[in-house]
Amino acid sequence: MSDQRIIVALDVSTATELRELVAQIPNTHCRAKIGKELFTSIGPLAIEICHQAGLDVFLDLKFHDIPNTCAKAVRAAARWGVWMTNVHCSGGTDMMRASREILEGESHRPLLIGVTVLTSMSAVGLQELGVTRDIESQVDHLAGLAHNAGLDGVVCSAQEAQRLRNSFGNDICLVTPGIRPSWAAADDQTRIVTPKDAIANGSDYLVIGRPITASDHPEEAIARIVQEL
Ligand code: C5P
Repeated sequence: MSDQRIIVALDVSTATELRELVAQIPNTHCRAKIGKELFTSIGPLAIEICHQAGLDVFLDLKFHDIPNTCAKAVRAAARWGVWMTNVHCSGGTDMMRASREILEGESHRPLLIGVTVLTSMSAVGLQELGVTRDIESQVDHLAGLAHNAGLDGVVCSAQEAQRLRNSFGNDICLVTPGIRPSWAAADDQTRIVTPKDAIANGSDYLVIGRPITASDHPEEAIARIVQEL
């Protein structure tokens, strides 16, 4: 396991803000997450800025489409040299398998991760979609599909990490958002877990945004988190 377990969610929308932020993120302990807001705002320039700063990139675009389109988007991400990217497990086995298989022909192969159930989804919201399982069972079910399709891991809540680690052993990479050090505000996250507890639960990578990016001193915030770990 590398020391770079912290994935900083770079939820900004301009190249200027991004450059200011990455200058304060040490690549010895951190990687970078580029999400839909940043990528839709400035495109692949965001990847280039992170790479220039020596940061590995998790391109968090949560692809969900027909297998051919999804796989080609994943291949495009691979060709930008990203370290990790992701697809929605609810796109189905064929979509996940096509996305994994297309990477076999690439010289650079990013980690391919599945998104199970978004943590913003409620039990009622899931039922509304026609899913009769409860959220936990649906997460387990989708993680199983991702595992069988050959994906490298899943995004899940750190509260689910222990259960998934027990079910799938070390064969699955667990990426967990909703992380809050004890000294940070919860913001709009509800099911929060501290960095230390998340690692104890079996999480491999901690996605942390505002406790770092909204801090007046991002570098100090990172140092405190590293110390806690
Ligand atoms: O600022 P904060 O630490 O809450 O940021 C968490 C990041 O993780 C955000 O980029 C958010 O979109 C992402 N995320 C999440 N919950 C998920 C999946 C992704 O908070 N289930």
